[in-house]
Amino acid sequence: MEKTLKEILNLNRKYTNYGQVASYIPELKNAKRDDLGICIIDKDNNIYKAGNCDTKFTIQSISKPIVLAMALMDNDWSYVFSKVGMEPSGDPFNSIMKLETNDSKKPSNPMINAGAIVTTSLIKGASVEEKEERMLKFFRKLANNDTLDINYEVYKSEKTTGDRNRAMAYLLKNDGFVQGNVEEILDLYFKQCSIEVDVVDLARIGINLAMYGVNIENNERLLSERVSRMVKTFMITCGMYDSSGEFAIKVGIPAKSGVGGGIMASVPNSMGIGVYGPALDKKGNSIAGVKVLEELSHRYKLNIF
Ligand code: DON
Repeated sequence: MEKTLKEILNLNRKYTNYGQVASYIPELKNAKRDDLGICIIDKDNNIYKAGNCDTKFTIQSISKPIVLAMALMDNDWSYVFSKVGMEPSGDPFNSIMKLETNDSKKPSNPMINAGAIVTTSLIKGASVEEKEERMLKFFRKLANNDTLDINYEVYKSEKTTGDRNRAMAYLLKNDGFVQGNVEEILDLYFKQCSIEVDVVDLARIGINLAMYGVNIENNERLLSERVSRMVKTFMITCGMYDSSGEFAIKVGIPAKSGVGGGIMASVPNSMGIGVYGPALDKKGNSIAGVKVLEELSHRYKLNIF
């Protein structure tokens, strides 16, 4: 399998020349655009790796399905979905438009920034410190990696330049979709996005979702079967933003991308996949990463449909 993975990376390496490394969060500019790495963990806990699999990058929007899972575990589902919708938006991940034009002004789904700020606001905890601690603990459990931590340089960079998210969060408060201290909610959101991972961590998160919330290494239940289904459903319908339809057609696997260059994919009952390639298309998805997943899906018939 590792031989095939290397071959797939080599075949698609040319795509690292296309697109741009994210720069709207200044600290992300430091990524090396020709890095390309993949890790697969299957349901028998075999781990296969190729390319830049030790390179660290920030999880960014791949944190959104994880925080959604937490919000669903911390609250009544009807309450969660009274604050955030279930429909793909078809708009860019950072669009503010539908917060004004949607009838209810409710963010379309928890995978776009506006919806993710809502789910972050729903994380329970007696203090901001407790919320952060619970969040980090849950990420560590899902990645089965106690060393996961926040990259404070990226966090500061995003906090200083995140005025678009700030604008959205204040609108959401004005319209009753978030409650409490907006700056504290944003702070937690910027921190969740700045958690540093590698492709092995992403593959581990992917397999835990693929196995319906049970950690195959120790049989611990991390989330319920229904929550894991909901999360994967949001990944297939909204996980690649306004490319989700095309990705579902071409790759057919629940996946979530982040502007750090990572993609986490989860093939139900079968495997978790982490891919890294920091040069992004205009929609914020890794160009080479998507190509690698497309090839992988064809070769191993991973399309779930
Ligand atoms: O809020 C932001 O803009 C970033 N922290 C996350 C955006 C992101 O990863 C979009 N993904 N492709």
